[in-house]
Amino acid sequence: MQITVNGQTQDLSIKDNTLLIDVIRDQLQLTGTHSGCDTTQCGCCTVLMDQVAVKSCTILARQAEGASIQTIEGLAKDHLHPVQEAFSEEHGLQCGYCTPGMIMSTVYLLQSHPNPTDEQIKEGLAGNICRCTGYVNIVKAVKSAAKKMQETHV
Ligand code: FES
Ligand code: FES
Repeated sequence: MQITVNGQTQDLSIKDNTLLIDVIRDQLQLTGTHSGCDTTQCGCCTVLMDQVAVKSCTILARQAEGASIQTIEGLAKDHLHPVQEAFSEEHGLQCGYCTPGMIMSTVYLLQSHPNPTDEQIKEGLAGNICRCTGYVNIVKAVKSAAKKMQETHV
């Protein structure tokens, strides 16, 4: 099957029951997408599929055929994406394990809510669990990212 990840079309040989996360991590070596629970709870494995945030441990790779997948590696071009910058500057990460998923969910949230309220951020990140800390700095990072994106028109 063919799958497009971060703008590159890949020809892959996979079994029918191969999960998208396994293609991303094991076959394409894009290990920025993390696996935390394998049961659709933690959100560490979140990627964008045709601009929509999905948990890649819940999607069969075959379901992604013809779709455009974006992973955390696909966000930064010459420099960090504003959401990545904001998480770093606002200390929205500690061990960083949940961070790729948090960032992908934030990118998705900001597409529909460019200036989100605390409530909208809470709702938008409800599927992403951080085991390290509270969510105060994560919310601050999302707000800072929103501002940066408006300023840079990303
Ligand atoms: S690994 Fe996919 S939701 Fe936890
Ligand atoms: S920063 Fe460690 S799990 Fe979230």
